[in-house]
Amino acid sequence: SSDIKILAIESSCDETSAALAVNGKVLNNIVATQSVHENYGGVVPELASRAHQQNIVPVVDQALKNAAISPEEISAVAFTRGPGLMGALLVGASFAKGLALALDVPLIEVNHMQAHILAHFIDDPKPKFPFLCLTVSGGHTQIVLVKSFMDMEVVGETQDDAVGEAFDKVAKMMGLGYPGGPMVDKLAQQGNADAFSFPESEMAGLNYSFSGIKTAVLYFLRDKLKENENFIEENKADLAASIQKTLINMLLQKLRKAARKYRVNQLAIAGGVSANSGLRNRLTEMAVEEGWKVFIPAFEYCTDNAGMIAMAGHYKFLEGVFVDQSVSALPRMKF
Ligand code: KG4
Ligand code: ZN
Repeated sequence: SSDIKILAIESSCDETSAALAVNGKVLNNIVATQSVHENYGGVVPELASRAHQQNIVPVVDQALKNAAISPEEISAVAFTRGPGLMGALLVGASFAKGLALALDVPLIEVNHMQAHILAHFIDDPKPKFPFLCLTVSGGHTQIVLVKSFMDMEVVGETQDDAVGEAFDKVAKMMGLGYPGGPMVDKLAQQGNADAFSFPESEMAGLNYSFSGIKTAVLYFLRDKLKENENFIEENKADLAASIQKTLINMLLQKLRKAARKYRVNQLAIAGGVSANSGLRNRLTEMAVEEGWKVFIPAFEYCTDNAGMIAMAGHYKFLEGVFVDQSVSALPRMKF
C-alpha cells in the first residue's frame, strides 16, 4: 500500500520507547521507564545503556504487535540521533540502523528537541506557524521560534542549568528523591507559594540562568537548618510551592518578552517540565492576559516518548530527508 508507516525509536536518556505512525497519525507509544536510577538520585549513564539494550527489542516488538503491523510493512525507521547520553543514544541508533538495513527501508535521524516541539502535531488542536515553543526538560531550556516542521530557530536559552535540572537539584536538597520535578509539583499543590521568596536571576535578552536559584536555596536551607533541624520536614509544601513559583516566573517572563518581540500569539510548551501543573496553570492565566492561544501536549507526550519521534520522522519522510548507514549518535546535536 502507499500508506506511510514510520517505526520510531527513542533512547536518549532513561526511557526506552517505540511508536508507530501511519500517515502522520501516531498509533501507539510504548515506553519502558528505567526504575534502576531511583536508587542513585539521578540517571547513571552506564546503567541507562544496559537497560536500553535489554528493553529495546521487547518495546519495538510490542509497538508492532499493538498496531498489528508486520516489520515488512514499515516504510522507514526513525530514531533519536541526539542530543542525549552517548551510550543510550548508541543503542537506539544501532538498533535502528540494523533494522533499516535488514528491511531495506530508509533511515531517518531525528533531533530530540525538535521532536519535543513536534509532539504538538500528534493530537488536535495543532498550532499554526509561526509559533513560539518553550522547551523545558532535564537537559534543556529553550525558547524556539517554530517557522515550519523543519525550520526552527532557538531565540533564547539557558546559559547554565536547565530548569528541569533546577527542579531535580532542589528536590534532592529537600530529600525528595529522583526525579524530583514531579514531587516538587505534587507538594507545591498543597503549599503557599508566597511563604518564602527566592531571587529571580536576570539574564540579558531572552536567555535564562538557573544556577543562581539552586545556590540560593542551598544557602537558605543551610541557615534554616542551623536554627531548626526539622525545617525542611515542617515546611516541605511551602518550600516546594515558593521555589516552583520562582522558576515558573522566570520561565514565563522571558516567554512573554519573546511573544511581544516576535509578535506571535500562538504559544506552546514542550519537554518534561511542561507536565508541571503550576506552569500549565500560570501559562493559561497569562494567555488570557496577553491574548494568546496556548498549546500544551497530553501528559504522555510531554516526557520522553517515541510518539514525537514518529511525528518528526513522518515529516522528514515526506521531504525525503534520509541518512545513510554511516550515521552515528550525536550527544550534543544542535538544531
Ligand atoms: O523531557 P524529559 O522527560 O527528559 C529530558 O530531560 O529530555 O524531562 C525530564 C525532566 C526532569 O528534570 C523532571 O524532573 C522534569 O522533567 N519533570 C517535571 C515534572 N515532570 C517531569 N518538572 C516539574 N514538574 C513536573 N510535573
Ligand atoms: Zn526530552
